[in-house]
Amino acid sequence: MKKKILIMGIETSCDETAVSIIQDNGKKSPKILANIISSQEEVHKKFGGVVPELAARSHLEKIERITKKALKKSKVKLEDIDAISATAGPGLIVCLSVGFNFAKSLSIALKKPFIAVNHLEGHALSPMFHSNIKFPYLLLLISGGHTQYLIVKGLGKYKRIGTTIDDALGEAFDKTAKILGFQFPGGPSVEQYAKRGNQNRFILPKPIINRGGCNLSFAGLKTAVFKLSKLIKSEQDKYDLAASFQKTVMDIIYKKTKVAINEFRKYCKGNEMVIAGGVAKNKEIRKKINKMCLEEKFTAIFPELELCSDNAAMIAIVGLKKFKNREFNKLNFSVNPRWQLDNKAKFLKGAGVEL
Ligand code: KG4
Ligand code: ZN
Repeated sequence: MKKKILIMGIETSCDETAVSIIQDNGKKSPKILANIISSQEEVHKKFGGVVPELAARSHLEKIERITKKALKKSKVKLEDIDAISATAGPGLIVCLSVGFNFAKSLSIALKKPFIAVNHLEGHALSPMFHSNIKFPYLLLLISGGHTQYLIVKGLGKYKRIGTTIDDALGEAFDKTAKILGFQFPGGPSVEQYAKRGNQNRFILPKPIINRGGCNLSFAGLKTAVFKLSKLIKSEQDKYDLAASFQKTVMDIIYKKTKVAINEFRKYCKGNEMVIAGGVAKNKEIRKKINKMCLEEKFTAIFPELELCSDNAAMIAIVGLKKFKNREFNKLNFSVNPRWQLDNKAKFLKGAGVEL
C-alpha cells in the first residue's frame, strides 16, 4: 500500500510552542496524529501581556522536547516525515526565528522539503480538519493580533475586505481584562466574569458602526471601559462592565459581519463563513454569529475549540496543501513579521484614516 503523506508543522510566532504531525487522507480531511501545544501563560502572567524576549527564550528551551513528544504521540519516525512546514510570519521576529530556524535545520538533516507558512493562512484553513468547506468562503479572523474580514478564494489567494483600524479584538479583550484586574490571558476571563454581570448596565460606544464598510475599530471602546472603571466600587460593578463590554463587541460583530456578507456577495457565489482565531472560542460571540448567519442564509463554520487558538496542526495543513502543489521554499527564505495574506490591501491605521 502506498505510504500516506506525513507533514510536520512548527509554530512559534507568539507565546505558544507547538508541533504537530498530520497525515493526508486522500479526499477526506487530513488526520491529526499529534498536536502538541505548550503555552507560556505562566511566563507572561505577571506582566499582563507577552514579553517577546522571554517568549523566545521559552521557545528555545522547549522546541526540541515538544518535537520529540509529537513524534512519540504520533508513533511516527522522523525520517518518515515528507516535509517540514513552519510559521514564517506574521508574529514576533524573535519568536518566529526559533521555530523557523529549527524547521530549516530539520529539513537539511532529513533532506526533505521545507515549507514556509503564513500563520493567518493556518487560521483560515483550520476548520478543514472537521468540515469539507470549499473555496471561496468568507473569513472573519479574530485573534490577539489581527481582526480582518477576508475572501478566501483559494490557497494563497486572499482579498481583504475589512480590517480593524486600531486594536485587534483579542487585544481589546486582553486590555479590558487588565483594566478590570482579571487574569491573563484576558479573553477567557472576560467571558467567564461576564456571565455574572448585567450586560445592559453600561452603554459603551460602537466606533464607526455605521460607516467604513466592514472596517472595525475598538480603541474607543477600550478607552470608555478605562474611564468607567474609575467609577467602579464593587465586584458586581466589574462583572457588569465585563458583560457590557462583551455585549457591545457582539453588537459590533453582528452589524459588521452583515456588511461583510453583502460585500462578499458582490464578488462570489458561496454562502459559507469561517470564524477563526482565539476570540472564536467565545461562546456568546459564536451564538450571535450563528443567529446572524441564519438570518442571512449563510453557514457559520467554527474550528474545533483547540484549533481556534494558536497551534501547529493548522500550520501543517497549509504545509500539506502546498506540498501537494509542490510549493516548496528555498532555505534562504526569511521570516516576515508583517506578512499579510492580501499583499494588495492598503495599510489602514489610526483615527485619521478616511472611511
Ligand atoms: O489566535 P490566538 O491564540 O493568538 C493570536 O494569533 O493572536 O488568539 C489569542 C487571543 C487573545 O487575545 C485571547 O485573549 C483571545 O484570543 N481569546 C478570547 C477567548 N479565548 C481566547 N477572547 C474572547 N473570549 C475567549 N473565550
Ligand atoms: Zn494566531
